[in-house]
Amino acid sequence: MKKNTIIMSIAFIGLVCELAFAQNAKPKQKLNETPTASIERGKAIYLKECLSCHQADGGGVPHINPPLAGNTVLLNDKTKIIWVVLKGMTDRIPIDDEYYSNNMASHAYLSNQEIADVLSYVRNSFGNKATVITAAEVKSVRGVKKK
Ligand code: HEC
Repeated sequence: MKKNTIIMSIAFIGLVCELAFAQNAKPKQKLNETPTASIERGKAIYLKECLSCHQADGGGVPHINPPLAGNTVLLNDKTKIIWVVLKGMTDRIPIDDEYYSNNMASHAYLSNQEIADVLSYVRNSFGNKATVITAAEVKSVRGVKKK
């Protein structure tokens, strides 16, 4: 009987420790996901999906494809740029006081994480400096039905 109680106690303490550890482990996993990791992954996506139009230096092509370097919307309107990557852009509205003749196609086939990564990359490349974008932010914009 006494032996059983001891074994049960040890098992119980073990369970408590495990739960405490699991609680601790969660924030640690998030900390591993540094902004740098997302930006690094984003570079590979940029080379494959965006470089042909926006160019290696983010400078774009005059009157055809807008630059991402120093782009005001890119640096200031997260929702808009997530929307542009998801839906494409054919608006013919001025981008930093200049018009561009090409169309950007939808990239909705990229995952939320891939879009977060590539946008985090362009917001932190070509001299740009801005906060990263998370997969959760992309998910919430993707969920918007209208338009
Ligand atoms: C086929 C060429 C092409 C490709 C590929 C392309 N874009 Fe674009 N992108 C454009 C054009 C052209 C516009 C502007 C369209 C307009 O003025 O209507 C634009 C607009 C944008 C804008 C909005 C800029 C603003 O100021 O509103 C962002 C951000 C952007 N692109 C990022 C990307 C990213 C990131 C990728 C890769 C996932 C990508 N683009 C791929 C041609 C392209």
